[in-house]
Amino acid sequence: MNNAVIRRWMIPGPRPARPVRIALVGGDGIGPEVVGATATCLAELRIELELLRPAHGRETVKTLGDPCPATFKEAVRGADAVLFGAADGAGGVCAPILWFLRRELDTYANIRPSTHLPAFRGRDGTDLVIVRELSEGLYPAREGTLDELRAQRLALPAIPEGPGAFAVRIISEAATRRVAKRAAELALHRGQHGGRGEICIVTKANVLKRTDGLFLEVSRAAIHEAAPGITMRHLHVDEAARQLVLCPEKFDVVLTSNLFGDILSDVACEAAGGIGLAPSASLGRSSAYFEPCHGSAPDLVGKDFANPTATLLSAAMLLAHVGHPDAAERLVDAVLGVLESGNSTRDLGGSLGTTDFTRRIVERLRAG
Ligand code: NAI
Ligand code: MG
Repeated sequence: MNNAVIRRWMIPGPRPARPVRIALVGGDGIGPEVVGATATCLAELRIELELLRPAHGRETVKTLGDPCPATFKEAVRGADAVLFGAADGAGGVCAPILWFLRRELDTYANIRPSTHLPAFRGRDGTDLVIVRELSEGLYPAREGTLDELRAQRLALPAIPEGPGAFAVRIISEAATRRVAKRAAELALHRGQHGGRGEICIVTKANVLKRTDGLFLEVSRAAIHEAAPGITMRHLHVDEAARQLVLCPEKFDVVLTSNLFGDILSDVACEAAGGIGLAPSASLGRSSAYFEPCHGSAPDLVGKDFANPTATLLSAAMLLAHVGHPDAAERLVDAVLGVLESGNSTRDLGGSLGTTDFTRRIVERLRAG
């Protein structure tokens, strides 16, 4: 069926010499619903998996006064990979968990595929992967007041008078080099599995000459070193957004910095079929966590409306990463099989709730 798509999203990893340990972390909002649905499907795959459910969030706030306690961190560090749901934004209960998964585990390469598949609305021919730098840029949210900035006495042009705030956007050579290398490796891999195997670097280097100028220059050199001869181009982020709407099929691997990658992946997911379908992997040197691109969707919580597809496809990426590419393909097959038979959740124009949609996937996995 369509299952070969997973081979273009992930470079498969080695399988440990014992059952794979997956930490299931629901988080906030619809996170527990979509991770719960996915856990039900994982249990039907007939492979040896140890599914851990480390206590976190509201549960440990009550018992330990901390949503992300040491016991949780230890369990996650002992797992081969994490499947995460979502966190409410700044100030949300599980926001510290996202900080732990990204910053403390240093999962620096965020892989966000957008592939148009049969039965998805979206744009025919779309088959791209955004590789988003996840460790720096604007995201660590280093912010302060204008008074604090003025006190630094930096030689910056035109800092306004009066009250206000600022944010620091850091682009380092080392962080750019390591994510660019990942993008180059993925482009080579895609070239061997039916993709075009090209890279488009996206920056705003025409304005941010120091930071994005560096991102562009270091990326080009790292890609050239890791994948000599690979086709490379560069677009400014506004033009990249326009082209992702106009002609998404012209992109293969897109390499960009943190905030641009976040925004462009939401644009790209609509070309594939919608936010409820968009998976992701976040890879570090020795840690990996997987989550849907969407957030906690407060408007859907507790209604059995959430589409678990993005989380199920993230779990398929996880399975490929931990050395179970065959199980990953079976999972993708079952999910796409249900969608192709015309059954879907409300966000895709269907009428099924999370529970009934999941039940149909389980039936396919059992029959397969
Ligand atoms: P969102 O992705 O939660 O929701 C955007 C729209 O998509 C809403 O209409 C929602 O109903 C819909 N949607 C999202 N997931 C869906 C699913 N599985 N099935 C069907 N429809 C779905 O983004 P929004 O509204 O910007 O943020 C809501 C909260 O989520 C905020 O607190 C934000 O900070 C947080 N967030 C967390 C992320 C994470 O944990 N990695 C990522 C993005 C946002
Ligand atoms: Mg986002």
